[in-house]
Amino acid sequence: LFWWIFAANAAVMTVGLLILILTPISVSSNMSLPEAADLAGGLLVLLAVNFLVLRSLLRPLARLVRQMEQVDLLRARGWNSSATLGEVAALEQAFDDMLGRLEAERREAAARVLGAQEEERRRIARELHDAVGQAMTGILFQLSRAKRRADPHLRPDIAEAMEAVRGTLEDVRRIAQELRPEALDHLGLPQALNSLALRFSNVTDIATTLDLADELPPLEPEAEMTLYRVAQEGLTNVARHSEATDVLLSLRSYASTGRPRNVVLRIADNGHGFANDVSEGGGLRGIRERALIVNGSIAIKPSAAGGIEIRLEVPATTASR
Ligand SMILES: Nc1ncnc2c1ncn2[C@@H]1O[C@H](COP(=O)(O)OP(=O)(O)OP(=O)(O)O)[C@@H](O)[C@H]1O
Ligand SMILES: [Mg+2]
Repeated sequence: LFWWIFAANAAVMTVGLLILILTPISVSSNMSLPEAADLAGGLLVLLAVNFLVLRSLLRPLARLVRQMEQVDLLRARGWNSSATLGEVAALEQAFDDMLGRLEAERREAAARVLGAQEEERRRIARELHDAVGQAMTGILFQLSRAKRRADPHLRPDIAEAMEAVRGTLEDVRRIAQELRPEALDHLGLPQALNSLALRFSNVTDIATTLDLADELPPLEPEAEMTLYRVAQEGLTNVARHSEATDVLLSLRSYASTGRPRNVVLRIADNGHGFANDVSEGGGLRGIRERALIVNGSIAIKPSAAGGIEIRLEVPATTASR
């Protein structure tokens, strides 16, 4: 656009000059060389002025296009409007408003989807725990009674069956627990993170350092669930991708003047970090989406120990509950 306008202006001025040269209107018909040089110099000055004016006029438009290309609704916008002249400023404003609307709509839609997902998980976990879990406990009792009454040579087989049922019962409990962390509802976030970390280090043999604040400001249930799910995904990623030997799981609260205290969750490993051509998958995008819903800010960056650090900061509720 810039070069088109510039070329058009240049053409107009060149034509003007040609008219001046070729017609006897205001230039003497037998123009001397100095006169022509003067005119050419004048033309150059005009073009330079034209160039500078147009460029400064259209630069905000180019910047706007760059920003439009880079916009990702899951990341903080870092939008800096460069309030300029007339239509460009209006375009910037309209684009900014549109982004705001899209962000709000996206946040609402994601909240609805994730809310429904959590509800469904809660239902499945309850079914698993109540129906399947209790039925298997019943089977265990029956087997135990059968074992007492059975011929001695049948007892080892029954004991083996009981062991298998016990193992499966454990699996069912674990799956229900992962689907819906009971501890989060009954014992609070720090306790839930504590048992998450415990299970993690038992299963993976990765040394897990827990750094939990003694006291946390009140949090919305959605924010607590977000912190828990982010910790869960972060630890799963550490186990699956990082080849780390140590991981830190930290939950602290920081005071900032004039504002309610924020709660900060960090999961930092000492693994090899992101491979070169890695792109974010469903897990990390899910984390960003959850953070967006609770107005949190998230950073996924290299950790001090050489691996990856996920840092999520969520605002505490202003009204204490
Ligand atoms: N702690 C980590 N250390 C090293 N690489 C990591 C770590 N966490 C994530 N990655 C890399 O980032 C990629 C994307 O992670 P993400 O959690 O989004 O997807 P995923 O774990 O592959 O799949 P899922 O959707 O099941 O979570 C991973 O495939 C992995 O290569
Ligand atoms: Mg993952």
